[in-house]
Parts: sequence; C-alpha cells; structure tokens
Amino acid sequence: MALTSIKTSGDKIEIVNQLLLPHTTEFIEIDTIEQAHDAIKSMKIRGAPAIASLAALTVASHLSRALQADPAPEWLSSPQLLDPYITAQLDFLYTARPTAVNLGAATRRLKHTLRTGVEQGKDASAIAQDLIQEGREIDAEDVSRNKRMSKWGGEWLIEQVKAKGKSPESLNVMTVCNTGSLATSGYGTALGLITYLHETRKLSRAFFTQSTPYHQGSRLTALELLTLKIPATMLCDSMVGSLFQHNDIHAVVVGADRIARNGDTANKVGTYNAAVLASRHNIPFIVVAPVSTVDLDIADGTAIPIEQRPALEARLVRGAVYPFTLNAQGVKEQATVMVTPEDLEGVYNPSFDVTPAELISAIVTEKGVAVKADGASGFDLSSIV
Ligand code: MRU
Repeated sequence: MALTSIKTSGDKIEIVNQLLLPHTTEFIEIDTIEQAHDAIKSMKIRGAPAIASLAALTVASHLSRALQADPAPEWLSSPQLLDPYITAQLDFLYTARPTAVNLGAATRRLKHTLRTGVEQGKDASAIAQDLIQEGREIDAEDVSRNKRMSKWGGEWLIEQVKAKGKSPESLNVMTVCNTGSLATSGYGTALGLITYLHETRKLSRAFFTQSTPYHQGSRLTALELLTLKIPATMLCDSMVGSLFQHNDIHAVVVGADRIARNGDTANKVGTYNAAVLASRHNIPFIVVAPVSTVDLDIADGTAIPIEQRPALEARLVRGAVYPFTLNAQGVKEQATVMVTPEDLEGVYNPSFDVTPAELISAIVTEKGVAVKADGASGFDLSSIV
C-alpha cells in the first residue's frame, strides 16, 4: 500500500507532516490558505506536484466552505469582489516556494477559470463552483498522468538498454530526492518510473541518495521504497561517483521543479552532480515530470529562480533519538541536533541546482518522451506543452 501526502474527505484536507517522517506519521488538518502557505514554506509538504495539489485543494475547500457559510462572506456577493479576493489568495500561495513552477501553473490555471467566469458574466457563486471543480481536478489528474509518464519512461529505458546489447531484465536505477507518492498526489514521477520497472519485474535494485540537508532520500524515499517492497540501497550524496565506478547502473532518473524551454532542469541540489557523473560513465540521465513543470517563458536554466533555504537548516539534523526511546504516547522520541560549531556563519544552502540540457538524455512527460535532435545540445519543448 503506497503512502499518501494529502487526504481529503469533502472539504476536509489533511497532510502528513513530512518533517516527522519516517518515524512518526502525523496528519495535520489544513483549514485555511495561510495554513497551506505555511505548510508549503516550512516543507511539512514538499515536492513540486504535491504543493500544487495542496494549494489547489485548499482554494477549492475555502470556496466550498464559504458557499455554505451563513451569512456568506461579502467577497462572494459579486464577481467584482470575488475576482480581487481570490487573485490575492492565489498570489499569496504562489509566494510560498519560488522554484517549483507547478505551484505557479496551478494558480495560473485557477486565475484563468476566474477570469473566464467573470468575462462570461457568471455570478459569483457559479464562478466559485467552477473554481472548486478546477482545484479538485488539478489534484485528481496528477495520479493518472504519473502512471502514464512512468510507463513511457520505463519502456524508453528498456529500449535504450536493449540497444546497447544489454539485458533489460534486471535494471539498476539511481534516483535523487523524493519523487514518489509523498511528493505528488500518487504513484510519483521518477519514483513512479522505478515502481513501473518493479511492477513489470524489470528492476533489480533502486539506489537513492540521502539528499542532504533535508534528507528527502534517507527519510522519505527510503520509506516509500520499503513500503512498496522495492529492493533498494541508500548512498550518501558524496558516493555517486563511487557507485558508478563499482556497479552496473543502467539509468539515473530524477524529477524536476522547473524545466526551461531548452530542457535545462532545476531539481533537488545534487542532481547536477549526479548528471555530470552519469555523463562521464555513459549512463542515461532521465527527467520525469508533468508538462506543468515545463516553463516555456524561461529560455534556459540561467533564468530559473533558485530558492535559498535558511542556513540553519543545513546545520541541523532531525530524527528519532537512537537507541529508540518511546514517549508517554508510545511514540519514538524525536530530536534536532546541530552538527556544526555553534559560531559557524558561512553556509551555502541552495535548495535546487540546474542540470544543463546537454547532460539530459530524455525528458518524459505525460505527453511522451522528448529527446534532443541529432547534434543539438538542448531540447525543443515548445511543441509538447
Ligand atoms: O525541496 P523539495 O523536497 O520540495 O524538492 C523536491 C524535488 O526536488 C523533487 O525532485 C521535485 O519536486 C519533483 S517531485 C515529483
């Protein structure tokens, strides 16, 4: 049974607090736009598609509750009041994290629904209904497209392996960060491709980096792979070169937070290192992400905004106290410890890096597998969006 990052029941939204995983599974209710913004910013929920889903669902639930309120809020009394109110909420949500463009794609889509309703002369409650439907749709469509792109990416990789004259029956695939059910509305992107290979009995082993400093790999990907019973091996971020030197790795598969028009891809910091090493070892490097991650307004990776996380986050490690001690509720005690000298001031802590398109073998979306034209250093993604 796969894990889940968001649970909904009617207008009630709950997210699993990813800061406490893998040792404690605590669901937190998200009742307001402010709470959704805080959960995204503080990384209680993370992963580009999952944060877009939470934002869209929260707007839908906010509107649905407002429609049922008695008296209804004033901003629901006319399209002229609804428009600036909802636009401001969407703009606020968009500021929660700057790199992942899916959040922007979701808020833009909702703004489009809003504008269309206003232009068609609908009343405020009809526009609110349209927004609720669109918000729920943004979440719901994620799972099916993840399954589609995972299959396409998996099949493409199998063909590449065959073309090299190797057997595609027991593949070793490495990934970075967490791109599974916890990072999406379900199944995952890069981890979805790995899951597809496992389900079709083509996977020998998944390798995953710890993905420090947030440990999305050691905390979240490890938990997902264990839950799915996929044979897996963790490595520290600094061990990728060694892994490639001593093991037959058939592909590196990663997700993305933003892909520029030429294919330059922002993803969890450490992805670029893995891509450089994959190129050196002639290992296919595959990006798996929905079309909403492609930002055609950005020509190349130099224009992708890179989120800098607080210095403190790179100096701290959080986890269960070991040997395990249980608290009064029978839950493993957790602690945060500082691993640097107290007085350390200089810390470099970008959340993402950009992998140049020339190092990427294929970009897989729900629309298919994109590769570069012969001799080209970049992709032309304008036709797939
Ligand atoms: O900082 P995070 O944990 O939100 O970063 C997540 C990643 O970089 C993922 O690889 C990316 O969002 C794709 S998730 C399907």
